[in-house]
Amino acid sequence: MTIASNNNCKHRGGKESEPQKKEQRKATIIAAMTIPMSGDDPQPRLHTDPSVSEQAFKAKVASSVFHSIPFHSAPNPQLTGASPKCRPVVVAANYRSIRDLNRMGFIFGWLPTEHYVRDIFLLTLSAAIAATLMSIRFYLRITAGRCFTETKMEGKTVIITGANSGIGKETAKDLAGRGARVIMACRNLETANAVKDEIIKETNNSKILVKKLDLGSQKSVREFAADIVKTELKIDVLIHNAGMALAFRGQTSEDGVELTMATNHYGPFLLTHLLIDVLKKSAPARIVIVASELYRLSSVNLNKLNPVGSFPAAYLYYVSKFANIYFARELAKRLEGTRVTVNFLHPGMIDSGIWRNVPFPLNLPMMAITKGFFKTTKAGAQTTIYLATSDEVANVNGKYFMDCKEATLNAAALDEEKGRKIWEESLKIAKLTPQDPKI
Ligand SMILES: NC(=O)c1ccc[n+]([C@@H]2O[C@H](COP(=O)([O-])OP(=O)(O)OC[C@H]3O[C@@H](n4cnc5c(N)ncnc54)[C@H](OP(=O)(O)O)[C@@H]3O)[C@@H](O)[C@H]2O)c1
Repeated sequence: MTIASNNNCKHRGGKESEPQKKEQRKATIIAAMTIPMSGDDPQPRLHTDPSVSEQAFKAKVASSVFHSIPFHSAPNPQLTGASPKCRPVVVAANYRSIRDLNRMGFIFGWLPTEHYVRDIFLLTLSAAIAATLMSIRFYLRITAGRCFTETKMEGKTVIITGANSGIGKETAKDLAGRGARVIMACRNLETANAVKDEIIKETNNSKILVKKLDLGSQKSVREFAADIVKTELKIDVLIHNAGMALAFRGQTSEDGVELTMATNHYGPFLLTHLLIDVLKKSAPARIVIVASELYRLSSVNLNKLNPVGSFPAAYLYYVSKFANIYFARELAKRLEGTRVTVNFLHPGMIDSGIWRNVPFPLNLPMMAITKGFFKTTKAGAQTTIYLATSDEVANVNGKYFMDCKEATLNAAALDEEKGRKIWEESLKIAKLTPQDPKI
């Protein structure tokens, strides 16, 4: 076993000039270990050989070793005999030598230095943070609600908006697996048809239809509804799942309505009106609305129900989800006694496409959080599936759910008068006419 070191580094004690000191700092120790392969001498020993020049040593090493591992921390003078200011290069000849280096303390590239207490502290801290994050992730996974109901859905027709991706796709897949006839109401027909093929292949259920629906366009909502009214004798479950969020700058729909509100609130509001007669005829029927717990970060401004030009647009996502809750509660009240129930839910925080408009560089930490801690879309679909299928909620109306359990709302969400006013204004903004069905 040989350790070679550059002689230049052995300046200790005496006074050096500034250029000399500089030279000394730049100097490089070359340390190499050759490990006896016979097994006679399993303990590696260290030895410095100042007579070997760096260049000669490098040439020797280049012809004989497989790996060279540069270490950038200051060397342990006890190990290398070098000044702490010198930078060592440790050359490991083969796997065995790496293993032995590790045994001597070169753990994962960490060279013990005179700062080893600090280094051990940092290593322990990193390990503790990693363990805590893993525990949080594990906790969130095991406490996520699961829908255990095995209810079959043969003979039932279900409409799911935004079924071509995320939570909607997983919901469609699950309900198709239970035998339902699933109408995927999507704005992107290409991805929707690809998902339809995937669902048919996975579930062996060919009763999957794709129909065009852009909730941000009142014309598209009306065309979709007219098609359903004409072609469907019944709708057993209507799932308002589709949703979108913008980042900073808002957009306006072709109807002059702020786009997030148009898509997340006014579109579903209009669609429910246009389909209500079919739903009533199909009773018992269910309406499920995917809202969000993020509603708590907002409040609905009655004077600004069409908030065109509001900044930042991302805030309107929370407002639109709050509007979903007012809508669901008022709708449930108006449908009492019809055997059409309405329940709404928070799916959890889900790693899905809803975050796609988070701008750079915020999207980077966001991605780390969504990938690391948010639920999968399959887990996110569980409460929707529960509300669409479970006998436990067959007669439950106007309630909020999370993790397949009833959840509480804040005081603002329970304001019935405000809910009624939002409803009245929504009738105008969604341009419902006296000829349209009333609820
Ligand atoms: N992810 C979460 O953490 C979270 C939390 C709480 C609530 N939610 C709610 O969960 C629901 C599903 O979202 P997700 O997380 O599954 O996100 P996602 O993967 O982005 O799915 C949203 C779906 O809505 C569709 N959509 C958007 N705008 C539409 C429009 N104008 N017309 C018709 N469809 C439209 C999208 O279609 P395209 O593919 O064409 O865009 C997509 O299929 C949303 O209502 C969302 O607000 C999500």
